[in-house]
Order: sequence, then C-alpha cells, then structure tokens
Amino acid sequence: MRIFSGIQPTGRKHLGNYIGAITQYVAGQDRGEAIYCIVDLHATTVPYEPADLREKTYDTAAILLAARLDPARCIFFRQGDVPEHTELTWLLCSVTSWGELNRMHQFKDKAGAQRELVSAGLFLYPVLQAADVLAYRADEVPVGDDQRQHIELMRDIAGRFNARFGDTLVVPEHRIPAVGARIMDLQEPARKMSTTGGSEQGTVYVLDEPKAIEKKVKSAVTDSGSEVVRGPDKPGISNLIEILSVVRGVPMEAIEAEFASARYGEFKAAVADAITGYLAPVRERYAAIRADEAALEATLEAGAAKARAIAAATLAD
Ligand code: TYM
Repeated sequence: MRIFSGIQPTGRKHLGNYIGAITQYVAGQDRGEAIYCIVDLHATTVPYEPADLREKTYDTAAILLAARLDPARCIFFRQGDVPEHTELTWLLCSVTSWGELNRMHQFKDKAGAQRELVSAGLFLYPVLQAADVLAYRADEVPVGDDQRQHIELMRDIAGRFNARFGDTLVVPEHRIPAVGARIMDLQEPARKMSTTGGSEQGTVYVLDEPKAIEKKVKSAVTDSGSEVVRGPDKPGISNLIEILSVVRGVPMEAIEAEFASARYGEFKAAVADAITGYLAPVRERYAAIRADEAALEATLEAGAAKARAIAAATLAD
C-alpha cells in the first residue's frame, strides 16, 4: 500500500496539525510505502516572501524529522524540487471543472480573507493537491477533517481522467482519524485551530515552551456548567477531552470517568501537563535538527530524487 500526504511550510505547525496529521504520517511508515512532501508551491498561492518561505520550509522539515519521520523509512521531499507535480497539474486541469473549484470551502474562505490579489494559484490549489497524490498513484491520504473536500475532488479528477483516457491513475482514499481530526481553537472552540484563521492565545504550537502551553490551556474558554463531559453545548470542554484522549491514547469515555468529580481547573491542569509531555520531546529534538541546514537540504534533495523517479513514470504513462 502506498501512502501520500503533504503539509504546508508555515513553520508554525500547531497541535491540530500534529494530532490530525503528523502522528498519522509517523504511523504510516510502519503501514506501507510512505511518501511525504512539504508543499512549498502551495504556499505561493497567498502573498509570501521568497527568503522567508525557504526558511519556513526548513522549519517544517525539522519539525517533521523531530516528530520521527525517518528518511530511511519514507520518502520525504520538497514539492518544488519535483517539477512533475506542476506538469501533472496542467494535464489534470482538462478534467477539472471551474464550477467544482469555485465550490471549494478553502478557496472561498481564503479568497474572502485576502486583502491583496486573489491569485489564480489559490483557485487552482486543489488541482495541484490532486497532482501531488495522483503522481504517486497513492492508495491512501492521511489528513485532518478540513481536507475532506479536497480529497473528494481528487477522487473525482482521477476517476474522470481514467474514464476519458484509460486506466492510468489510482483513485485514493482519505484516512481521517476517528478522534482528533478537527482540533478546535482554545479561545474560540467553534472554529478549528489554525495558523491563519484562529486566535494566537487559542493555538498551541508544536514548538511552544511548557510555560506558554500551560498559559494557553489554563485560559482556554470553558462552558457553562462544571462537569467534564462532552456535549453540543460544551464545545470548549469537548475539545479538551478530545485532545487529552488522543494525547494519552485512551478513549474519551475514560477521560470523562476519570474527571467525573473534578473541577474545570483541575482538569485543565491535567490537559496542560499532558500536552507539555507530549510535545516536549519534539521541541527538544527540533533545535539540533534545525541547526544543521546542510543536512536538512541533503535529506530533502535525496528524497526528491526518489520521488521524482516515481512521479516521472506516471507522467510518462
Ligand atoms: P496544512 O499544512 O494546512 O495542514 C496539514 C495537515 O494538518 C491537518 N490539520 C488539522 N487536523 C486536525 N485539527 C486541526 N485543527 C487541523 N488543522 C490542520 C490538515 O487536515 C492537514 O492534513 N492542503 C493541505 C496540504 C496538501 C496536501 C497535499 C495534503 C498539499 N498537497 C496532498 C494531502 C495530500 C493543507 O493545507 O495542509
């Protein structure tokens, strides 16, 4: 089985990225042939500084390696190093409808928030994402819940391409975790945790110091009532229960049972502690990995050579 996923080089990856996606990438290395890509070309669809983007690409690479992506057990590369992605994007455009792209939630959100130019790249973003996966004929795509619509679109694109030109591409399945696929902002639990749309205080970054994590979790918005249970009227507490469940690797019911007679304050302290312990090893390994840019560059280049061999074969077909 072949697994493919991509992540944007914002450098400030957060707990939602970590739980929803990065832990799945790591696990994928034991489940199949895993291919992971830092999507620097996707990052050019909104205004950016070239030098800053290069730095953030290294930041993101170092976070993933610190999280235990192992280049000996997966193919790990930078999208812009493999020109087959952009070539396939163009070919896929002929089987993608304008209407479908116009209905993409992420496009509507990002275009709506954009004060400068809304680029054609932002509109074509999902086609490049389809090309990322389809170039490798991947079977499975581990992602968080917010990527559901993009995966549906790439399945339609692959199906239409095959119907029109003969069986060439693999129609991939998404792999969205049952718990932790949509971690919410701690301050505004009605919206997902996000580097662009969320609140600074409500976003726990993978590289946050323990003190910062403690402060953010302790000031998390909680709901009326005092019981640690999930419910539609309790989005704040439900989110913290979900986070603790994933971090400790136990069912959400077990968390509710453990904290049945606890107050919110005590519960939040336990959540802060658990997140700190969960992210600390990544933050500690990050510093040394990020410091060696030559090694990062060599890792990404070696990954690109392996990726290119696969993608070029698909393009030739
Ligand atoms: P990106 O970089 O925004 O996010 C990376 C991954 O993190 C997941 N994620 C979340 N999971 C749970 N809770 C959250 N609050 C949360 N926020 C983000 C995302 O679902 C994603 O899996 N378009 C993609 C990048 C991409 C891609 C691809 C993904 C480009 N090509 C090919 C898969 C396959 C994106 O914006 O990811």
